[in-house]
Amino acid sequence: MAIEKTFSIIKPNSTLDNNIGNIIAHFEKNGLRIAGAKFAKLSKEKAEGFYIEHKERPFFGELVNFMTSGPVMLMVLEGENAVMKNRELMGATNPANAAEGTIRKLYAKSVGENSVHGSDSATAAEREIAYFFERSELTNRF
Ligand code: PPS
Repeated sequence: MAIEKTFSIIKPNSTLDNNIGNIIAHFEKNGLRIAGAKFAKLSKEKAEGFYIEHKERPFFGELVNFMTSGPVMLMVLEGENAVMKNRELMGATNPANAAEGTIRKLYAKSVGENSVHGSDSATAAEREIAYFFERSELTNRF
């Protein structure tokens, strides 16, 4: 199986709840490792650009407000089948539908305040990683 990279954000509800370590531990215990990381507070412009594909959705303003309401942990994760593995570990977007033991089941509050973002495809991962990281900021173990 190929080693790939994916993009992850620990969202403001979880940075403010002091769950950064718990969430990273969850990734590390399940075969993903950090290949790059930044702790940051997003500007409105940066968050809007990141979520541009959702611009027409009714919750867009709420999503941008939430993502700029506190610090976020921006991470590049790598491992076997990392994109799908990360989606599996996160659980369903709405924590009410998330499987037991997933990050969103454990730490999310609602469909908006849902603790983590993860790229939904290899193409999205490439775009999202490049949106926040220079190549020189990433390790290359493989
Ligand atoms: S997904 O997982 O991409 O298929 O989810 P989707 O339903 O398309 O949602 C895209 C992102 O929007 C967030 N979201 C919301 N934010 C605020 N309020 C409401 N009602 C809401 N519904 C969805 C959702 O958490 C997704 O954020 P990311 O960061 O991509 O996970």
